[in-house]
Amino acid sequence: MDRLKHALLEYHEHSKHRVNCYAPGPRELDWTNQPDPFREFYGTPRIRLPLAADTLATRYNELRCGALPPAHGFDLSDVAILFELSLGLSAWKSSGAQRWALRCNPSSGNLHPTEGYLLCPALPGLSGGVYHYLSRDHLLERRAAVDDPRWTEAFSSNGVLVGISSIHWREAWKYGMRAWRYCQHDCGHVIAALSYAAAALGWQTRLVEAAADDAVANLLGLDRGDDFGVAEVEAPDALLWIGNSELRPDLERMLIALDTAQWHGRANQLSPGHVRWPQIDSIRRATHKSRTREPPPPNPERRPAPPTPALDLSFARIARQRRSAVNFDGTTRVTDAAFFSMLACLLTRPDTPPWNALTCPAAVHAALLVHRVEGLEPGLYMLVRNSRALPDLKLSMRPEWLWLKAGPDPLPLYFLLPYDLRAAAKLICCHQDIGADSCFALGMIARFEIALKQPWRYRHLFWECGMLGQTLYLEAEAAGVRATGIGCFFDDEMHALLGMEDHTWQSLYHFTVGGAVDDLRLSAFPPYVVQP
Ligand SMILES: Cc1cc2nc3c(=O)[nH]c(=O)nc-3n(C[C@H](O)[C@H](O)[C@H](O)COP(=O)(O)O)c2cc1C
Repeated sequence: MDRLKHALLEYHEHSKHRVNCYAPGPRELDWTNQPDPFREFYGTPRIRLPLAADTLATRYNELRCGALPPAHGFDLSDVAILFELSLGLSAWKSSGAQRWALRCNPSSGNLHPTEGYLLCPALPGLSGGVYHYLSRDHLLERRAAVDDPRWTEAFSSNGVLVGISSIHWREAWKYGMRAWRYCQHDCGHVIAALSYAAAALGWQTRLVEAAADDAVANLLGLDRGDDFGVAEVEAPDALLWIGNSELRPDLERMLIALDTAQWHGRANQLSPGHVRWPQIDSIRRATHKSRTREPPPPNPERRPAPPTPALDLSFARIARQRRSAVNFDGTTRVTDAAFFSMLACLLTRPDTPPWNALTCPAAVHAALLVHRVEGLEPGLYMLVRNSRALPDLKLSMRPEWLWLKAGPDPLPLYFLLPYDLRAAAKLICCHQDIGADSCFALGMIARFEIALKQPWRYRHLFWECGMLGQTLYLEAEAAGVRATGIGCFFDDEMHALLGMEDHTWQSLYHFTVGGAVDDLRLSAFPPYVVQP
């Protein structure tokens, strides 16, 4: 364990951006090896999915309160909506001769390392098996056909599994050593995006925490060397149970049934050449997860529903209109009511997306640098997402912080310091203007000790951060403003601001929310051409 902890700490420290030295990355971008943004498996039977999301009436404001619609049955059209509103394309953009796709899930550098898989019993319109989702064409590639009755029996109740994997090379091509962190953030965004889309169909989502990485690789076919050949490998991330019942599928039985499956397809190669980042191999090994026991169901703190935001949009609309702001105007102010309402959605509540996907208590808190919130003094605030963490957070931070309770009673928000933190926010966000021009910026402060005790949980901490980010993206849209994830930040500058001196807590992701300035040079096109 000490060896793993050592490897983890080494990666964590070396992948930090510092004011005088960025984490190791490529000196310049090698355009000849720019990865293809889409993984596909040549030679698989393909199942076109209907574009059915516009038939979904669910309002976003109901989901954020945990008021799910009556559960849909599981058929091809419902599965299509699940993918369309989570991993599907949301638009094509172009500038001059360049054209690129945006998706419902955000991704650092728009590189999209995350791949999605469906594992299902026979459903109306879809036979039982393992499928890869190809977002470019909104279709399922049938990787494995499984006729064995044990496959169907293993599911035992209404629901499907969605598998998530990462192609680390996609991010490493641009970001080098720090790329692994971004892949984990992106995975967290995807978990949340799936949880929201499933909830819009009336389904609950649960992370299958007991699953070992090797089992996930086996179930998704990621360990089938011949099918990948020289193509870039995919690392197993997570399995999500999406269904109407708490009864989870029997993974052992599924694995036995898969032995009889017929597999199809060969993975496409994304780049002709690659640069190896041995530190990414090392952190991957250090955080490899063996089978664990399924944790007991969580006992989340009871909380009132969040106050209603400014806009009342359908979930389908909000999922597809979500965008990252490239610039903020530096003048927009949000009201304190809107701010408190966004923060309320960052707190875990039972059976409410996206937090229904996680079983562990909240381990990440938000240190907020408030610049432009009407009715709130600019300065440093702390949202303590798990009340048990409050004494430790106080102990680890500057003794002079005020810790004055702020906002409505049930919101665990504390005012630490009145100050104009715009310059600090810009510096911490690697000198990016959006840090200062936002209404507020934040650092996600994770209980890092958890990762030092159980290294595979390092990944989970990033996932929780990504889920917080996805919530903020949607909340910003509902409040009529916009958000942007910030993977590029100076880790230790944030720790220095807070007064954190050791590895008990570490800032793992940053975020900004504000009034967006659109880039008018870009043209936008619909995500899919509808076939007559
Ligand atoms: C993990 C992560 C880190 C990001 N880091 C930054 C950043 O440091 N600066 C920035 O301007 N945008 C950042 N972004 C925003 C991405 O550039 C954006 O998601 C991507 O270009 C796709 O655009 P979209 O979010 O509008 O779909 C980040 C996004 C994610 C998910």
